[in-house]
Order: sequence, then C-alpha cells, then structure tokens
Amino acid sequence: MSVDTSGSSGPTALERGIPPLEVQGVTVRFGALAALADVSFTVAPGTVHAIIGPNGAGKSTLFNVMSGVYRATEGEIRFGENVLTNLRPHKIAKLRVARAFQNIALSSGQSVAENLMLGRHHLTHAGFLAAGLRLPRATREAELHGKRVREIAEFLELGDKLDIPVGVLSYGDQKRVEVARALCTEPDLLLLDEPVAGMNSEETRRMAAAVLEIRDALGISIVLVEHDMGMVMGIADRVTVLDFGRLIADGTPAEVQADPEVIRAYLGSGDEDEPANATDGPRRGSVQLDDAPRPTETSAGAPSTDEDRA
Ligand SMILES: Nc1ncnc2c1ncn2[C@@H]1O[C@H](COP(=O)(O)OP(=O)(O)OP(=O)(O)O)[C@@H](O)[C@H]1O
Ligand SMILES: [Mg+2]
Repeated sequence: MSVDTSGSSGPTALERGIPPLEVQGVTVRFGALAALADVSFTVAPGTVHAIIGPNGAGKSTLFNVMSGVYRATEGEIRFGENVLTNLRPHKIAKLRVARAFQNIALSSGQSVAENLMLGRHHLTHAGFLAAGLRLPRATREAELHGKRVREIAEFLELGDKLDIPVGVLSYGDQKRVEVARALCTEPDLLLLDEPVAGMNSEETRRMAAAVLEIRDALGISIVLVEHDMGMVMGIADRVTVLDFGRLIADGTPAEVQADPEVIRAYLGSGDEDEPANATDGPRRGSVQLDDAPRPTETSAGAPSTDEDRA
C-alpha cells in the first residue's frame, strides 16, 4: 500500500479487502442510565461515516466500545469476521483499527517523527536487541519505517516539521500529527474523535480535505464523531444520529438533515407534541443543521464538551 499524494484515487476498499463494520444491537448501561440503547448500523467499506447527536447522546460511549475502552452490556460490533466487542484495546488495534483521540495523546517533548514512529512500533519485527546493535536487518527495517513515516507526514502537510518537538507546534498541526500517528499503524478502520474540535476555519477546511484524501487514497473506512456540522455534512457519505442513546436516523447527509426527528433532537423542546421551531434554540447541542457551511467555507466548529479519552 502506498499513500498517493497526487490527489487521484488509490486502491478501493474492495481491492484492499476492507470489511464492513457492523454495530448490532449495542446497549451500554451505567447503572440505570442507558448511554446506548439497542443501536444497530453498518459502516460500509471505504466510506466516511459520521456519528452525530446532541451532548450526552452516546457518541463517545459508542467510540469507546468500538475501541475496547468500554464494554457493551448487550450486542456486538463485528469488523468482518472479528468481533470487536469486549476485546482489550491493544487486541482491537491488532485488527487494524486505529483511533485518533480528541484530546491529543502525543508525547509533546518528542519530535513529530518520533511520535509517528511510535505508531509503527507493532509493525517492527527486528526486535529490541537487533535494533540496539544496529544489525543490518534492523537498519533496513528502520529505513523502511522512516520512509513510510515521511510519506504519511507529507500526506498530512507535516513533511517539513518532522524534527520539531510536537509540543511547540500549533494546535491544528498537533491534531494532524495525531491523525498521522493513527495512520502510521496502517489501519483498515480509522476512528476520528472530533478531529476539528478547537480548530480555526482554515485548519478545519484542511482537515476535512485530508479526511477525504485518506478515504480516496487508501480506500479505508473512517468513522467520524464530530460536532462541526459543516464538516460532517460536507464530507460524510453516511450519517448516524444518536439521541439519548437511541439511534434516531441513519442515512445520507441530505436525508438526516431533512429528518423531523433529527431536527427536533437538535432544535426542538424535546416535547414530541410540540413542533420544532428555530426560536426554541438548541436543546443540548449548539449546532444548527440547516445552515451548516460546507467545509470549503467558514466553519468554526461548535463548542464541544467531550472530555473523555482512553
Ligand atoms: N463512564 C461513565 N459512567 C457513567 N455515565 C457515563 C459514562 N460515560 C458516559 N456516561 C453517560 O452516558 C451518556 C452518554 O455520554 P457520551 O459521553 O457518550 O455522550 P456524547 O454523545 O459523547 O456527548 P458529548 O457530545 O457531550 O461529547 C451521558 O449521559 C453520560 O453522562
Ligand atoms: Mg463525547
């Protein structure tokens, strides 16, 4: 597999053998609270699939189940032949599932290259001793990994920042390093947790473009939890909407934007008998579905309260 930086399409998901991600009847209970209640949907191979919903809808809980941080009370998540539910995070990572965290999980004193190399650690075969003794096989392997790290860094416009400590980079660049680190694990499924939270409009536009390039160049599946409706509606192939732990809509961006229950969840009073109207204001989120800018336009991003990370 190579990263195509020319903008043209790379291998398709079918050619790469990327399987679907199937969420089947997943329920997660915390005491009396059902953070997720019987949620089922499928992420088609090679697509950008967004998960949206007002604050507390269960988005992060779903991500945490997908990546092995939380256990499902009921139901399962399958990635092809593998059942992800209730595997430990490192086992899920071995199944080529990578997560880029919302709260940047990088080693700030180390360079971009060193952080990206950490993403390739599990792909290293030469062993600690051989690498330490600089044996030819270990040297060859290190060169190959270094080449791949540079390719991925260039792909995410970080090629000229490889030797810079991550801690001194701009916030937007650090978020790009976080995505690059996840890509360095060579995933088949990339979980992006609010990748543009806290970014300015230009950084958001670049990240949106990068996500589409990743999908097109690598053919991998991308699941995106994001509050920025401009980003979501501009780049998602499909959108799943959660509200109070329930799946209330699953369709194309146009379909979910026009769905009355989705509009009610974001804008309505929560009273089923009362029609949603703009004067109600946002209920728990602070986003508007109808006038969301495209990612090429100004898209500052809705404030997020998501604090969790594995
Ligand atoms: N570890 C936990 N223990 C108890 N309750 C939890 C836990 N994690 C999440 N919850 C609860 O589950 C519900 C869903 O939370 P979750 O964080 O998944 O929502 P979210 O959609 O990610 O919201 P936001 O947009 O604010 O990030 C909330 O009511 C939350 O308080
Ligand atoms: Mg969250």
